[in-house]
Amino acid sequence: MSAPVLVTDREALAAELARRPGRRAVVMTMGALHAGHLALVSRAREVADVVVVTIFVNPLQFGPGEDLDRYPRDLEGDLARLAEVGADVVLAPAPEVVYPDGEPAVRVSAGPFGEVLEGASRPGHLDGVLTVVLKLLHLTAPDVALFGRKDAQQLAAVERMVRDLDVPVEVLGVETVREPDGLAMSSRNAYLTPEERERALALSRALRAGEQAAREGARAVLAAARAELAQAELELDYLALVDPATFAEVDPGAQGRAILALAARVGSTRLIDNVEVRLGG
Ligand code: PAF
Repeated sequence: MSAPVLVTDREALAAELARRPGRRAVVMTMGALHAGHLALVSRAREVADVVVVTIFVNPLQFGPGEDLDRYPRDLEGDLARLAEVGADVVLAPAPEVVYPDGEPAVRVSAGPFGEVLEGASRPGHLDGVLTVVLKLLHLTAPDVALFGRKDAQQLAAVERMVRDLDVPVEVLGVETVREPDGLAMSSRNAYLTPEERERALALSRALRAGEQAAREGARAVLAAARAELAQAELELDYLALVDPATFAEVDPGAQGRAILALAARVGSTRLIDNVEVRLGG
């Protein structure tokens, strides 16, 4: 496959897009690409003629004291990885290109998504995500936008934004890619020491335990996951069983699809993961 064309400003992006007719897909990333991102790009390749990847570490979605400055950046490596899976255009803009007037005065509100789980733990984070996602949708004008299910709350909030604000794009969720031992792929895994990485396996173990208890209902799912986490050396932020569309916690007697989601700090690294479960028989 050939190397993607790299553009860094709006004019060059518009010119590249104008040259490429057909159904267009966008995969938005913050770079430091791993197999999870590449799976999104490969899926995009299957559903569209033109694949655009954005690489932008969005300052708006990082809170004070979070890892904006140390977030891993590797544009050269990212471009090499993207050449292997066949992206056509890569937009890697500086913050001034995305936010020419500085911090935007008007932002997208994540509404109730901003008040629970990731929204509650990271105030303003989902507003920052939705604001940049909407801007990047305007700039890349795709027919379809692909997002990983690992950030399930982000995906649900994007789907809701697209419906509520009549954004003309199809949103496609793509399964989480895991290491052979179960650890969900994440750019933040790069922060883990070998010993922390071992401890981080408790996240996927807890989700698996919850999944296995799904037939017995919501209480059993949470109890099984909690029992696994109780033995783990990590600082749990949240563990919750939520409705996949709204991210509101499900009732103890709920049946059908739900998402078991958790966030935890392993050393100084905050990790999230989730799994979809089917409650009841
Ligand atoms: O999931 C991410 O990497 C980011 O939140 C996104 C969607 C690229 C917006 O900055």
